[in-house]
Amino acid sequence: MPATDWKEDIADNEAERFAYYTSVLSAIQAKAQAGRALHAKGNLGVEADFEVLGDIPADAKQGMFAVAKKYPALVRFSNGASAKRADQKPDIRGIAVKVIGVDGDKVIPGMEAAVTQDLLGIRSPTTPVKNAEEFIKLILAVQTPALLPFKLIGSLGFARALHVIRTALAGFKIPTAALASTAYYSALPSQYGPFAVQYVWRPVDGHVLATKKGELGEELAARLRESAVMYDLCVKFFIDSKVTPIEDASVEWKSELISVARLTIKKQDVDSPRGKAITAYVEKAAFDPWHARKDMKPLGNMMRARNHAYRASTQARGAAPEPTDMPTFSA
Ligand code: HEM
Repeated sequence: MPATDWKEDIADNEAERFAYYTSVLSAIQAKAQAGRALHAKGNLGVEADFEVLGDIPADAKQGMFAVAKKYPALVRFSNGASAKRADQKPDIRGIAVKVIGVDGDKVIPGMEAAVTQDLLGIRSPTTPVKNAEEFIKLILAVQTPALLPFKLIGSLGFARALHVIRTALAGFKIPTAALASTAYYSALPSQYGPFAVQYVWRPVDGHVLATKKGELGEELAARLRESAVMYDLCVKFFIDSKVTPIEDASVEWKSELISVARLTIKKQDVDSPRGKAITAYVEKAAFDPWHARKDMKPLGNMMRARNHAYRASTQARGAAPEPTDMPTFSA
């Protein structure tokens, strides 16, 4: 049985620190005027099916994964930067999935009856930083690339700054694989019934599909005109606080991957009127890891910081309210 003795380590003044980090992001968002504070550029917004699998191990039948069921979902692929830039620039890439029709009480006070469960990922299984404090220092330094090393050395100290820069550079790669053959990672933990897990989106087509030099979203759109694209959602269980820490996002959880659901991005034409309506809706939507069932609550310092930052960003950009059902998009 997976371990149940995971534990969060919550500092006394955390809420104040998180409010400060959020104000830093809000200032960046206001200056960039590109919509979201981070992940401003959507590569593509699409509709999908999210199917919880029936034949999963008993321990993995937790939260919304307790019962095999097919849900509608919306998916947004994005670049990480606060500005909208060409996809050939090095950047973080994100996937945000909103599963609709999920029962169970949700975490955010006032939104207990919401029917959405969001799952967000990036292309690396860890972050270059340990916690939200370092994350915000990195985000601040990235705003002026020419001064980045100096700013980070100033805020983190020489040795730690060097380590963060090296790890960040490894993750900031110019994309060579198509979005359809990229794995995504939550890189941070969530509660999973009595257990704790990290999520991994594993492309079902195991081949590395090279991307063309152009825009990542256009390449995926062309693929989706021909056929569906699928990912398996897997969980990695918490083992102990050393090998699978809850509070340190720079350590890769190396536990076994267990498939619990399949995301099928259906064959669709994103340039059709219906496709354009879906993209427009997805751009307006609020993807937030805290849109979650109580028994699937985000865990750890960086997740707790996100609990402040996402609501501020979505409010500032006038994001759409949570859907109460899968929206209908006319053909
Ligand atoms: C491993 C850690 C993280 C992952 C996997 C992640 C992933 C993502 C993704 C995929 C998006 C785009 C959502 C969309 O398409 O609408 C996003 C947006 C965003 N992220 Fe994160 N993120 C991480 C850490 C953080 C942290 C630590 C903060 C701040 C403390 C943060 C703040 C934001 C904000 C403000 C947005 C824009 C929200 C909006 O207006 O919709 N993220 N993130």
